[in-house]
Amino acid sequence: MSFIKEINRRRTFGIISHPDAGKTTLTEKLLLFGGAIQEAGAVKSNKIKKGATSDFMEIERQRGISVATSVLAFEYDGIKINILDTPGHKDFAEDTFRTLTAVDSVIVVIDVAKGVEEQTEKLVEVCRMRNIPIIIFINKMDREGKDAFDLLDEVEQKLGLKVVPLSFPIGMGYDFKGIYNIWEKNINLFSGDSRKNIEETIEISDLESPQLNKIIGDKAAITLRENLELVHGIYPEFDKQEYLNGHLQPVFFGSALNNFGVRELLDCFVEIAPKPRPKQSEERLIKPDEDKFTGFVFKIHANMDPNHRDRLAFVKIVSGVFKRNTPYLHVRQGKKLKFSSPNAFFAEKKEIVDISYAGDIVGLHDTGNFKIGDTLTEGEVINYKGVPSFSPEHFRYINNADPLKSKQLFKGIDQLMDEGVAQLFTLELNGRKVIGTVGALQYEVIQYRLEHEYGAKCTYENLNVYKACWVDPKESKSEEYKEFVRVKQRYLAKDKQNQLVFLADSAFSLQMTQQKYPSIKFHFTSEF
Ligand code: G4P
Repeated sequence: MSFIKEINRRRTFGIISHPDAGKTTLTEKLLLFGGAIQEAGAVKSNKIKKGATSDFMEIERQRGISVATSVLAFEYDGIKINILDTPGHKDFAEDTFRTLTAVDSVIVVIDVAKGVEEQTEKLVEVCRMRNIPIIIFINKMDREGKDAFDLLDEVEQKLGLKVVPLSFPIGMGYDFKGIYNIWEKNINLFSGDSRKNIEETIEISDLESPQLNKIIGDKAAITLRENLELVHGIYPEFDKQEYLNGHLQPVFFGSALNNFGVRELLDCFVEIAPKPRPKQSEERLIKPDEDKFTGFVFKIHANMDPNHRDRLAFVKIVSGVFKRNTPYLHVRQGKKLKFSSPNAFFAEKKEIVDISYAGDIVGLHDTGNFKIGDTLTEGEVINYKGVPSFSPEHFRYINNADPLKSKQLFKGIDQLMDEGVAQLFTLELNGRKVIGTVGALQYEVIQYRLEHEYGAKCTYENLNVYKACWVDPKESKSEEYKEFVRVKQRYLAKDKQNQLVFLADSAFSLQMTQQKYPSIKFHFTSEF
């Protein structure tokens, strides 16, 4: 069936990295290969520039860019590639975690000089938990950096991965001569010219051939032979199935800025990266090639125009075909909705589409029906799992600063929480509202947006909370549970789903509480 052919040619992935490793540059070069953009500099960075005059003004600017770059789609070699954009700033890590629920694989970019950095560790951990297939791209080989073997060790140790290099650098920095492509068995010579094209690839079927010495010089040829011998000795053979299972991670070296090693990465990617993968719902496993449409919301984006409070809900299509103007069941609300202008995303623009396939992302205009994690189907009642909230790291009371605008304030808070900007907790004791965020920046964002989009004003008040711990309701009938609720009432709150949360004020008090009430299970994400 033709729709299965369409689904099978889709590759939906995310590029993740610590800020500044080269994610934007690599994205741009991939789009150039796909012919989706014509010149470098067309992809705007979604990162918060250092030293920006005002952080939240910068964030507002970013929100504009971020709609445009949410999904970058292009065709390459008969494959439809969807790159899902992920914010690099650590305060928006939760956005990235959610986007990772919608990708079928990832490419991790690592700076050869800086090695594995903090943000990369966190993001890769989430990928590992979900067994997402990972390809690693070691970037900036035109600069002095760490020794390739040391770096591969570091990747294995810090990221808990099992790597297999599919290319290997010949020198680095000033002495960088090029890359031996283990996957294709050829050499790519580095000329430092970003207009470089494929013709400069030299096939080397026999590494012992004196031709190699002629091309890269005796010394480099000897070192390369030794290095490749070591590679074969240390690392396993590449096994596609192991990669797809998330147990083996191929590594490429290159320089995104110089467009070097990027085509090799892309060619390998289209050959090995997974087509849309099945997804677990609470009820059953859903396969992409099922003929009925299902999908879930992984991101909500408020429009920039404060006069039109409409939002764009990003839906990952998990199975079947999504059609315009067709009624679909919004499972949580139990009602059918029709979408007259669903958006599909291309490199730099979005367009209304009549039909999209599993693997694709559609943007649906929404006037407040959707929350992150919502499921859409043709009628079957299923609920997709896997868009959990993590415990926030910052907590503050939110107060209404303009009593005449309390309705606007609550509506604003409600909608911003649905978008996943932050999490709201309501204290059991007195109904006070607490906002929890991953980064301090979000408080400015919320204050600014409440004022500019909803005409409401708020102030914050500090609150000493170490962690939000979701309380498993399994034991809720037991005496111990009842005592816990009585004694700890001051620290208990409900989240937006009405789940009970224990707001521990220190690691010590959490530990003491766990010891005192051993039958109660505490969870550190909202999904368990
Ligand atoms: P990010 O999205 O991961 O945050 O990184 P981005 O692509 O913006 O790259 C960060 C910086 O690293 C940029 O320089 C970029 O030009 C540079 N860069 C990317 N790839 C390479 C590479 O292969 N070699 C070298 N030498 N540099 C690379 P910048 O000065 O911060 O920004 P810009 O002013 O050049 O845009």
